[in-house]
Amino acid sequence: MDVYEAVTSRRAVRGFTDRHVPREVLERVLSAAAWSPSGSNLQPWHAYVLTGAPLAELKKRALERVAAGAPGDEREYETYPPALKSPYRERRFAFGRERYGELGIAREDWAARQRAAAANWDCFGAPAALFCYIDRELGRPQWADVGMYLQTVMLLLRAEGLHSCPQMAWSVYRRTVAEILSPPEGLILFCGMSIGFEDVTVGCARTGRAPLEETVTFVEGSVLRSHAA
Ligand SMILES: Cc1cc2nc3c(=O)[nH]c(=O)nc-3n(C[C@H](O)[C@H](O)[C@H](O)COP(=O)(O)O)c2cc1C
Repeated sequence: MDVYEAVTSRRAVRGFTDRHVPREVLERVLSAAAWSPSGSNLQPWHAYVLTGAPLAELKKRALERVAAGAPGDEREYETYPPALKSPYRERRFAFGRERYGELGIAREDWAARQRAAAANWDCFGAPAALFCYIDRELGRPQWADVGMYLQTVMLLLRAEGLHSCPQMAWSVYRRTVAEILSPPEGLILFCGMSIGFEDVTVGCARTGRAPLEETVTFVEGSVLRSHAA
């Protein structure tokens, strides 16, 4: 699989089969992902990989919390600014419309939306999950490094025929995750990531993207060339 195919075939998959993901495949992916870039090579990612009984226990505890209507844990970082401005607000709205539209859930049906979101705590059926932490003393550039690492993991998973779904949702139940993983005190859970083989019977609309000119500016050369002349 070439890089373009890995990039364009990666999607946030929200339906996995229970087919086992071999440990050696995960080790191969994570060994290669370690070559991700980071400022001054800090490699600020701390990844925990969960499969089998510990993952089953995590899903069970999280789903029990949902069923009990327990509030989420106090947040350690803002997932989105409280007042999202344009054009991000419109993009988020469009995503919600696409996501819940494909599930046949009306915008105002909050309970149905919550039920759909609860699939996060089952990792959408995935038999493997990765939880990525970052040291709380590190700053924005290191959070960006972690993002590059996670994208590299997701692309390498595609090369192995696997799919993924990154999940900030897990930060809502970060204490439950910590009960299972016992991470050092100084780490913040950024996100989880479900990993597995796609269940192709679960429908999944492709998300759209803003046109290139909304997000990319080409600054081209005539001025610089005239200086050089
Ligand atoms: C950091 C991050 C956190 C995300 N958290 C969640 C999540 O908690 N649950 C979920 O279903 N999708 C989550 N997503 C998936 C996004 O909704 C998805 O990437 C976006 O809508 C674009 O769609 P695509 O990945 O299928 O191209 C997350 C994505 C990223 C990058």
